[in-house]
Amino acid sequence: MNRVDKFASKAKEYDTLQRRLLTAKAIANKIRVNINLRKDMHIVDFGSGTGLLLESLAKDIAKVTAIDISPSMTNILREKSIPCKLDIKEIDLTKEDLDLKVDGIVSSMTIHHIRDVQALFKKFHKMLKSGGFIAIADLDSEDGSFHSVDTGVEHFGFDRKEFIDLAKEAGFTNIKIEDATTISKPHKEFNVFLLTASKE
Ligand SMILES: C[S@@+](CC[C@H](N)C(=O)[O-])C[C@H]1O[C@@H](n2cnc3c(N)ncnc32)[C@H](O)[C@@H]1O
Repeated sequence: MNRVDKFASKAKEYDTLQRRLLTAKAIANKIRVNINLRKDMHIVDFGSGTGLLLESLAKDIAKVTAIDISPSMTNILREKSIPCKLDIKEIDLTKEDLDLKVDGIVSSMTIHHIRDVQALFKKFHKMLKSGGFIAIADLDSEDGSFHSVDTGVEHFGFDRKEFIDLAKEAGFTNIKIEDATTISKPHKEFNVFLLTASKE
């Protein structure tokens, strides 16, 4: 399929930026505090990129399905040794469906690249077993200066109340949102939240 790989120029250096590693670790720790991960769990990492989030969670679960549209990012993940089963799906989840029923869906710093977040949340809800969870980390509303180039950016972060409402509308319950970490860039600090919720 012919599509533009918007992360092609970033992929090679992606893991060399210390702040990205620290952000993914902080989000993984926050997920662990909020979600009881188990060694028999199969989870999806949506927008898994080079795998920074999933590699921090892998030792606590059985399997991760990494979903990402970017060949350049997933090629870096393929080179890594991940301490659980790993299945990589190189697809645009907004355009394709996956016939999966998983225990949880995690995602870090990806939802602001998605135009129709409501439709995606509904898709997440379908992909979960009952009792399953979502744990989604992204930027609080920002002034547009987080990205130096806006290609592929659909939202300048999110208003927390509106984000919660999207999850509610998609059928999620036990919705909770809290501070996850802060990303320090030379010109500014950006807050990252973690939303957790479950499917009944
Ligand atoms: C900023 S990166 C975050 C990567 C990783 N989660 C992390 O925290 O380091 C966003 C990722 O989302 C992926 N992505 C964006 N839109 C997508 C879509 N519609 N379907 C699947 N992956 C997508 C991009 O290719 C990219 O790898």
